[in-house]
Amino acid sequence: MAFVKLGLSLLLLVLIHGVIFLSDPVLCDDEDDTLFQGINSYRQSLNLPEFTENDNAGCLADEIADQLEDLPCDNASDYSFAPGTTPKFSNFNKLLHSCHINVNNTVDGVLMPVCVPKLDPTLVLSNYTNSQYAKYLNDSSYTGAGIASEDDWIVVILSTNTSTGNFSGVASLVPNIMVNYMVALLFSLLLVFLS
Ligand SMILES: *[C@@H]1O[C@H](CO)[C@@H](O)[C@H](O)[C@H]1NC(C)=O
Ligand SMILES: *[C@@H]1O[C@H](CO)[C@@H](O)[C@H](O)[C@H]1NC(C)=O
Ligand SMILES: *[C@@H]1O[C@H](CO)[C@@H](O)[C@H](O)[C@H]1NC(C)=O
Ligand SMILES: *[C@@H]1O[C@H](CO)[C@@H](O)[C@H](O)[C@H]1NC(C)=O
Ligand SMILES: *[C@@H]1O[C@H](CO)[C@@H](O)[C@H](O)[C@H]1NC(C)=O
Ligand SMILES: *[C@@H]1O[C@H](CO)[C@@H](O)[C@H](O)[C@H]1NC(C)=O
Repeated sequence: MAFVKLGLSLLLLVLIHGVIFLSDPVLCDDEDDTLFQGINSYRQSLNLPEFTENDNAGCLADEIADQLEDLPCDNASDYSFAPGTTPKFSNFNKLLHSCHINVNNTVDGVLMPVCVPKLDPTLVLSNYTNSQYAKYLNDSSYTGAGIASEDDWIVVILSTNTSTGNFSGVASLVPNIMVNYMVALLFSLLLVFLS
């Protein structure tokens, strides 16, 4: 009997674990994918390696798109930032925190928002390739990208593969997974003892 109960609680553990991972937001939709492909074709035309997907940058892009969503479409580039400029978002640290990003790993990143009615794909791509943003796409120090959109806004974040721009959060991400795991483990042990 005890064996069966242990088996059941292990099953529960696996389920809880699955739910924790499934609950991670899935950060992609059509506009984002289309722009990602368009930007990578542009990179190829410049003989530069394609951007790889940076999930943390994608998470932050999603948070920023949420902030911009209700703003008027004018002056989208006012909200951009590049190395040497400060983000315009007063809650920037909070946004980093919700994506488990260490601020020290963002200083070389570039954030490029664009606002186009209905996110017309051709206009969106040319807003990146024919503007002051183009020089960042034509820069081999950027190796990764994260893209997210809300409403008429789309946000591209470029990352490097160095510690000053990879948007990693080594310090906070690992303990969070461990805590989730420990809670699940304790919960199922409790069930074994109660039954
Ligand atoms: C956009 O920029 C122009 C020129 O800098 C300024 O006059 C206008 O008020 C800005 N619009 C918004 C919504 O900030
Ligand atoms: C970022 O780097 C500074 C200077 O090296 C350090 O004092 C600070 O603790 C670091 N911040 C984080 C969140 O790791
Ligand atoms: C960017 O998009 C706007 C539409 O919102 C368009 O009027 C403008 O021409 C585009 N800019 C570039 C450089 O493609
Ligand atoms: C891209 O950068 C290279 C070298 O920095 C330069 O020669 C080239 O003209 C740039 N291409 C475009 C389209 O800006
Ligand atoms: C970083 O990217 C550059 C350019 O793609 C590559 O040459 C380099 O080997 C990469 N470094 C690491 C640590 O991945
Ligand atoms: C990002 O930088 C951190 C700090 O240097 C490093 O520990 C981590 O492995 C890097 N991650 C990637 C994907 O390059």
